Amino acid sequence: MPIYKATNCFPDTALLLWNITETAEALSEGLHLTQRSLDRLRNFKSEAHRRGFLSVRRLLLTAGYSDSDLYYDPFGKPHLSDGKHISISHSHNFSAIIISDRITGLDLELRREKIAVIAHKFAEPSFVLDQDDPDYINKLTVNWGVKEAVFKIRNERGISFKDHIEVKSFEMSDKQTTATLRFNNLERHFDVYFEEIEQYTIVYLFERH
Ligand SMILES: CC(C)(COP(=O)(O)OP(=O)(O)OC[C@H]1O[C@@H](n2cnc3c(N)ncnc32)[C@H](O)[C@@H]1OP(=O)(O)O)[C@@H](O)C(=O)NCCC(=O)NCCS
Repeated sequence: MPIYKATNCFPDTALLLWNITETAEALSEGLHLTQRSLDRLRNFKSEAHRRGFLSVRRLLLTAGYSDSDLYYDPFGKPHLSDGKHISISHSHNFSAIIISDRITGLDLELRREKIAVIAHKFAEPSFVLDQDDPDYINKLTVNWGVKEAVFKIRNERGISFKDHIEVKSFEMSDKQTTATLRFNNLERHFDVYFEEIEQYTIVYLFERH
């Protein structure tokens, strides 16, 4: 299947998703990859990794960019040469990118019951204790996604998901919440949006000025 969704979720922001059903070979057709990308592709151990990587390049193309417009800093964070902000995520059969004028982070997660086992390691007690909530797993997955997405914006050494990133409680029907990062002397606020697509949860957020 080609592109699953391409929307301007806000006037200054494009969100694109790919449902990966093709082989790596099919995905690479018509793509012009930089030498760096070709080297990276060659070093991936699994076909799943290659498909995720290539589907992201297809999404870039859909958004009007080529592989050579994308570069990475030494921490692995992606950047676009025109100065727009980009964040990337892949999970099993889906990949997603967000491109915005604002500082943004994105995470895509497959919802799994086993997230409950590690909830106490990353989530606030109010989330962990709410086990009777029918949306327990859904909310934990959003909570995790928020923290991954914040981390993708501010990937400073020593940030703890549990101690430094706080997600305001929400209902799934809200489709949005807020989050705060408090780390050393830094305090940053984020506007968070989330949705569920099949068995996946997508979270994207923007750092407030
Ligand atoms: C970097 C990290 C956020 C990536 O998340 P992930 O769920 O493994 O993978 P995703 O598919 O969602 O994201 C991968 C993409 O993130 C981006 N990325 C990688 N490192 C990054 C960084 N340091 N900063 C921002 N973005 C980064 C890349 O674009 C990468 O995809 P690409 O290399 O194909 O372009 C994750 O590996 C990580 O380090 N998380 C923090 C772990 C942690 O603190 N856990 C505490 C648990 S209690």
